[in-house]
Amino acid sequence: MIIDLDHLNFSYHQKMIFKDAQLQINTPGIYGLIAPNGTGKTTLLQLIAGLLKPQSGTIDILAQPALKQWQLAKLAFLQDNSVLYPYLTERDHLRYVQQNYQTSDQYLARLLDIVELTDFVDRKVKTYSLGQKQRLLITLALLMKPQVMLLDEPFNGLDPDTLFILRDIFANLAAHQVTMLISSHNLLELNKLTSQFFFIEQQQIVAKTATAELEQEYQRLYSQKRQHLQQVNLYEL
Ligand SMILES: Nc1ncnc2c1ncn2[C@@H]1O[C@H](COP(=O)(O)OP(=O)(O)O)[C@@H](O)[C@H]1O
Ligand SMILES: [Mg+2]
Repeated sequence: MIIDLDHLNFSYHQKMIFKDAQLQINTPGIYGLIAPNGTGKTTLLQLIAGLLKPQSGTIDILAQPALKQWQLAKLAFLQDNSVLYPYLTERDHLRYVQQNYQTSDQYLARLLDIVELTDFVDRKVKTYSLGQKQRLLITLALLMKPQVMLLDEPFNGLDPDTLFILRDIFANLAAHQVTMLISSHNLLELNKLTSQFFFIEQQQIVAKTATAELEQEYQRLYSQKRQHLQQVNLYEL
């Protein structure tokens, strides 16, 4: 079992986020985690990564607790770019991770070439565009060659170049037996990479395969809230 989460209960204070939820991933590849904002995507990834502790239930990655897999460098968690240090350069960030995981200069150089960041190594991260920060984050994760990656909304607000680079990287990793759980509120974006999804619905995690019906259900999920918009003239409210 690659990811095995069972009888998971988690709430923030009074607010129940997961109730006896479960999730199983047995086969390497790309899995989408889909839910509207505020439903619990980030919370779930933090729970799987071991950064949050559930009130009850078990979470195993490759048959061991997440912490163990961090130590073995088999697990990476791509959070949003607030984890980067604005006043440090790309080289500073890379050096730090490289030291910890003893990756070769040659491998690093190849990676930087692929993410098109070679010319920016001495620039402070605060001068980076959103896309450049995202490409640096993925490089930092790839340096440790993780077997399982958790990615929290990696496509948000990206320029087309970065979008294509990330898509190509994820497809390449999937072809080489890496498992990625990628959260998004955008089914259509993730559907370009995978047809295997988990939805968060009523505090449960539900596995679904992308089909035409699923797409309709997704459209309904979002458009229902705004049905009233289809029945009015905005200029005549
Ligand atoms: N640290 C926190 N303390 C209390 N409530 C939180 C905290 N983090 C998130 N929440 C609440 O939990 C719910 C799920 O949040 P989150 O996992 O960030 O959702 P998503 O990533 O799907 O947008 C939200 O309603 C949010 O307000
Ligand atoms: Mg989130």
